[in-house]
Amino acid sequence: MKNKNHLNILGIETSCDDTAIGIVRSDKKILSNVVINQNSNLSKYGGIVPEIAARDHLYNIDYAIKESLEKAKLKIENIDLVTATGGPGLIGGVIVGTVFAKSLAMSLDKPYVAVNHLEGHALTARLSENVSYPYLLLLVSGGHTQIIAVLGYGNYKRISSTLDDAAGETFDKAAKILGIGFPGGPMIEKMALNGSPNSYKLPRPLYKSKNPNFSFSGLKTAFNQIVSKTDLNEEIICNLSASIQKSISDCLVDRTKSAIKLFQTMIDEDSKVKIVVAGGVASNKFIRNELQKLCIENDASFFAPPIELCTDNGAMIAWAGYEKYNCEGSTKLEFKPRPRWPLDPTAHYTNPIQKTVGKGGVKA
Ligand code: KG4
Ligand code: ZN
Repeated sequence: MKNKNHLNILGIETSCDDTAIGIVRSDKKILSNVVINQNSNLSKYGGIVPEIAARDHLYNIDYAIKESLEKAKLKIENIDLVTATGGPGLIGGVIVGTVFAKSLAMSLDKPYVAVNHLEGHALTARLSENVSYPYLLLLVSGGHTQIIAVLGYGNYKRISSTLDDAAGETFDKAAKILGIGFPGGPMIEKMALNGSPNSYKLPRPLYKSKNPNFSFSGLKTAFNQIVSKTDLNEEIICNLSASIQKSISDCLVDRTKSAIKLFQTMIDEDSKVKIVVAGGVASNKFIRNELQKLCIENDASFFAPPIELCTDNGAMIAWAGYEKYNCEGSTKLEFKPRPRWPLDPTAHYTNPIQKTVGKGGVKA
């Protein structure tokens, strides 16, 4: 392989509904980051239909690669490392990305790296904000809500996770209940701008509890009950959106606050705590502001990647793949896509509801 300072890394992300291809240089320059989303297709069904999503990836991936190379002003032969999300995620989409990446790596005679999607989110701030290890990560996406101590590459200790639904899922469900489209997070955020966060009294599950786990299913139910008894109009939708956004935000901030204390016991006492937020929900400006305030109050530094790097994208996969390659080398072509792939395989022992391991392994 040529001079390691100038590797061009291709990142393929197909684990959910976005077909995303990014090209990142090993000096952290993002050369291109193309995302083709299926929102218009999926909004018809109010959510993601795995089979349709997989077929769309197959349809979009060639075009996304071409556009990504064009934007980066590179030819396919200039790619030095091929990386792709190998899980966790919707298996049809993960298979499309994995088979594509392996074939490309083989035909170019370049190394292939299978990347854990969660690791992609977890390490994004190292690409965009140059954050050094260790840091406390709040990972908030459509399928995951976790707080993780990121102590070094591959050294992840889960501090807490959700006992039921993820924060992103809650935003999506709330938007579906209000009939304002998919994905729900950006729509709720937009409507909330014209609403009052205190107009509806909603629960904040596990608020102030000692254990920093999350729970959102009670909030979803309470929201559904209020909406089912209400005649909706634009003003009411704005108020309901602002209220649920505040409720989710309060839970995230409160749980992160209690995790800071635990994290402090894991790192050098004198060092200032760094807090990183990642995943699709991290693009919410209200939540970013609230987390920023928490960090100021607790004398911690706060890092949030730019919005386009919070939601699923190929650049984050390329970067995590590069870090993995540096530590572990390439992945064998025998790698099997993994619908489940926790960042920390032993974390379920500490989670009250995840003590059992199913046929498919530990849930992420
Ligand atoms: O990380 P991501 O793109 O995909 C997964 O790995 O799940 O996250 C998608 C989730 C969706 O639930 C979406 O509604 C949520 O992130 N999301 C937001 C915002 N943008 C995306 N939630 C709140 N506010 C936003 N602005
Ligand atoms: Zn994601």
